[in-house]
Amino acid sequence: MNTHEDTPIHTENLSLTIDGAPILSEISFTLNRQETLILMGKNGSGKTMLLKTIAGLFKTTSGVSLLFGHNIQKMKNREMNNLKKNIGYVFQKSGLFDSMTVAENVLFALRRFVKMNESEYRQRATRALERSGLSGAEDKYPSELSGGMQKRAGIARSIVMDPTLLFMDDPTAGLDPILTDAIANLILEIRDSLKSSALVTTHDLNLARKLSDRIGLIVSGKLHGIYSRDDFFSTEDPHVVQFREGYLNGPIPVIE
Ligand SMILES: Nc1ncnc2c1ncn2[C@@H]1O[C@H](COP(=O)(O)OP(=O)(O)OP(=O)(O)O)[C@@H](O)[C@H]1O
Ligand SMILES: [Mg+2]
Repeated sequence: MNTHEDTPIHTENLSLTIDGAPILSEISFTLNRQETLILMGKNGSGKTMLLKTIAGLFKTTSGVSLLFGHNIQKMKNREMNNLKKNIGYVFQKSGLFDSMTVAENVLFALRRFVKMNESEYRQRATRALERSGLSGAEDKYPSELSGGMQKRAGIARSIVMDPTLLFMDDPTAGLDPILTDAIANLILEIRDSLKSSALVTTHDLNLARKLSDRIGLIVSGKLHGIYSRDDFFSTEDPHVVQFREGYLNGPIPVIE
């Protein structure tokens, strides 16, 4: 088994069952250092649950899931906290706290995991917001931001600790094509400057093409396959073709 500390993610036969219902089945893959892997798949196929399970927010029912070689399901709190400093997570629903300012939202995890003085915290929030194209939004509340700005605030929160591994769950959902491209550029820039690895879900084929090293297709809680970017867009595999072209008829059930 690959348990190397240099490997951001490694899963073997990861399965998740909730109340008897299989959500994820026997998922095995590796995310390599500085690689961006895009996960695609229809609504409800299990992308969010896979990200959350790998990040330790759900407990695997069986199989192995390693972050930087560590089995987080078996880690003590202190070890876990050290690991969490290296991980950023952009939630599908922005997940911002309405009662906190943007700066406080951005600093939420940093305050918990890293002790520094108040002006240093403030600088870190300002820098993360600047990098996310949200300069000057520190003291606004989430309800005062547009959808695109909320996405950026969620991204600022995910990068405030300079993580080496980024989970991004549908980072451009609900954004217009221009803003989607701006967020794509932002993700590329962040990823290159932090030299981080990323596991990103999206339904946007253009975003997938732009960001990916490889693309995986999830079908009904199973990893159907992982393809190089070029292979994903040229393969004649019937599942990938159906997803890529949006056909109603094909091996992927429209209603499960
Ligand atoms: N907290 C939960 N408890 C139990 N089942 C859940 C929970 N969240 C999601 N599910 C179920 O897990 C399955 C996968 O859902 P998931 O949210 O991972 O899909 P998804 O691929 O992210 O979809 P989308 O593209 O719409 O975001 C669905 O059947 C869903 O109903
Ligand atoms: Mg989802």
